[in-house]
Amino acid sequence: MKCAKLVGAKKIEIGEIEEPSPITGKVMIEVTRTGICGSDLHYYEVGQPEGLVMGHEFCGRVIYNGGREDLNVGDRVTALPISPCGECEACLTGNPQFCIHTWDKAVGLSLDNPGGLTSKINVRDDLVIKVPDNVTDEEAAMVEPTAVGLHAIHLADIKVGEKVLVVGSGIIGLTSAMFAKMEGASKVIVSEVNEARAKKAVELGVADGYILATGDFAQDVQNAAPGGFDVVVECCGNAPAVSSALTAVRPGGKIILVGVSMAPIAIPSIIAVTHEITMIGAIAYTKAEFKTCLDLMENKQIDVMKFMSKIVGLDKTNESYDELISGKSDSIKIIVDPSK
Ligand SMILES: NC(=O)c1ccc[n+]([C@@H]2O[C@H](COP(=O)([O-])OP(=O)(O)OC[C@H]3O[C@@H](n4cnc5c(N)ncnc54)[C@H](O)[C@@H]3O)[C@@H](O)[C@H]2O)c1
Ligand SMILES: [Zn+2]
Ligand SMILES: [Zn+2]
Repeated sequence: MKCAKLVGAKKIEIGEIEEPSPITGKVMIEVTRTGICGSDLHYYEVGQPEGLVMGHEFCGRVIYNGGREDLNVGDRVTALPISPCGECEACLTGNPQFCIHTWDKAVGLSLDNPGGLTSKINVRDDLVIKVPDNVTDEEAAMVEPTAVGLHAIHLADIKVGEKVLVVGSGIIGLTSAMFAKMEGASKVIVSEVNEARAKKAVELGVADGYILATGDFAQDVQNAAPGGFDVVVECCGNAPAVSSALTAVRPGGKIILVGVSMAPIAIPSIIAVTHEITMIGAIAYTKAEFKTCLDLMENKQIDVMKFMSKIVGLDKTNESYDELISGKSDSIKIIVDPSK
């Protein structure tokens, strides 16, 4: 079976992997769409783990239900790609994102469980969710990153009228901005290093304006939100971005850290100390939040199709990753059709 495999730093090749076998407790899915995520780009840049078949944001059709009686062959499904144990305190209280096993065997994020950059995958039956008829395969593949934005905004606990800055205008930043507005923010601004993406956030209607991280950032913040932003959502995962968040937040304000950096990063923590800033980490989503995003799509209360830039075949995976790390493209979500 054909797949797109990580073989080195900035190198993905078309290769072969074994087809999954039918196993009770695992739903076998024929993948129709899989999204390229900002987290995938981190793996791509370092080329590790070698052999990884990415694609943790996916939609597909059931080929084998693995014992899930409510699922029929042909049903369209998506899934939480994580691997929580299901037995610990975190799992039992509906917070699988805290489970220490959540990423061990995550689909598309571990060597054990190939993701959607291939045609057939096995996914734990308890994490598979049916896709309503009026939700497209592309939308269903975007439930996962949308749920990350929702979780971040739930943690931000925005009050009506607050001013919010979102640092980074990828899909995580854009969905965070979208939900910040829905929660009642009076002004949502994005900051970016890539002007094309910053402009797009405004064009797509999720931000009221943008600030360039490369300009006179502190002054632009004061112009947009005199005294600073009440809430800043950091969606990049690098030192300059977290520093921007600290520069932009008002004294006593709140920063939600969503961006991922595997390496330790240096930040001006003195600002957090002297301004009594609350910094909250945000990881993944709860199962309820994942389902909420699908419901919002079904009820047409959110439109994530506008975040999709194009659909490409498996053979264009490498060049799509290159486009996304270029820092110049205005593409947001590139979706792969593994059958092509
Ligand atoms: N916490 C979680 O559960 C979770 C889940 C998914 C993704 N993530 C992380 O969130 C981050 C965003 O994901 P994405 O898919 O939107 O990625 P992305 O790469 O599409 O978007 C990141 C954006 O940040 C911009 N950027 C980089 N440095 C900046 C700076 N100093 N100031 C302003 N903008 C800057 C980039 O130009 C880019 O547009 C990534 O680090 C990803 O790993 C976290
Ligand atoms: Zn993702
Ligand atoms: Zn657990």
